[in-house]
Amino acid sequence: MEVVLAKSMGFCFGVKRAVETVYEQAGTEEDIYTYGEIVNNEEVVEDLRRKGVKVIGNREELGKIESGTVIIRAHGVARDVYEQIAAQGLTLIDATCPFVKRIHRIVESESEAGRQIVVVGSPQHPEVEGIVGWCKTPAVIIETVEEAEAYRPTEDKALCIVSQTTFNYKKFQDIVEIFERKDYNVNIAKTICNATEERQKEAKDIAASVDAMIVIGGKHSSNTRKLYEICSRECARTYFIQTLDDLHLELPKSVRLVGITAGASTPNNIIEEVQNYVRINF
Ligand code: F3S
Repeated sequence: MEVVLAKSMGFCFGVKRAVETVYEQAGTEEDIYTYGEIVNNEEVVEDLRRKGVKVIGNREELGKIESGTVIIRAHGVARDVYEQIAAQGLTLIDATCPFVKRIHRIVESESEAGRQIVVVGSPQHPEVEGIVGWCKTPAVIIETVEEAEAYRPTEDKALCIVSQTTFNYKKFQDIVEIFERKDYNVNIAKTICNATEERQKEAKDIAASVDAMIVIGGKHSSNTRKLYEICSRECARTYFIQTLDDLHLELPKSVRLVGITAGASTPNNIIEEVQNYVRINF
């Protein structure tokens, strides 16, 4: 069986960097904590737990920690979390993705300069919470075109629009157009990360040219589900698996070429296992 592997799959640059940081720290003497789960993948979080890494769920839990190192994950956090870590005398390791950090710097300086910050993204997403927490004045969060239409600035202030890095590009454009149509004085910072779009495009191209397609990722990972949807449209034999254990393929003889892609929170070892299995057993 021939296998075509997507080039851009599995951990994105920012998540990979953050996960590696935690693994580097895991062997040290210190008590190691991550602020939130480092990645949306049960296997990785469990593996780190076995290595002694604990997860802090919120500020209250953070408040109870007396010593050790706290690692900030790729999504980033609000400025006051940094302040709290420092005030408690804990060591901080910042694994915020540099692309997210850039947004923090933009909203901090633009809000300081008097602009109203508009964050395009999902209000529940931790990345958005973090971004809002770097604004010097209250930010507005907009997720839909309806919300953009309904938005009325409280004062005649200039605006600065940023977006969550994983926000849908087309939807962001639609929202921005509404603001431009209303003739507001807006500054638009392009802050969508192309890692997501790139992998969706590649997965689509591969699925269109293979006989069967395997998508690997967590059950609850929305970006993996999205990859599955995209691939299913191109290839009728598309399979969604979490690990190798879920792979029960019965492929007809005519299947010669299998494509493999994986969600942004799927670790390399799981991808390796699946591809080796498919190469050897079919
Ligand atoms: Fe990943 Fe950073 Fe982009 S965390 S999706 S590389 S913004």
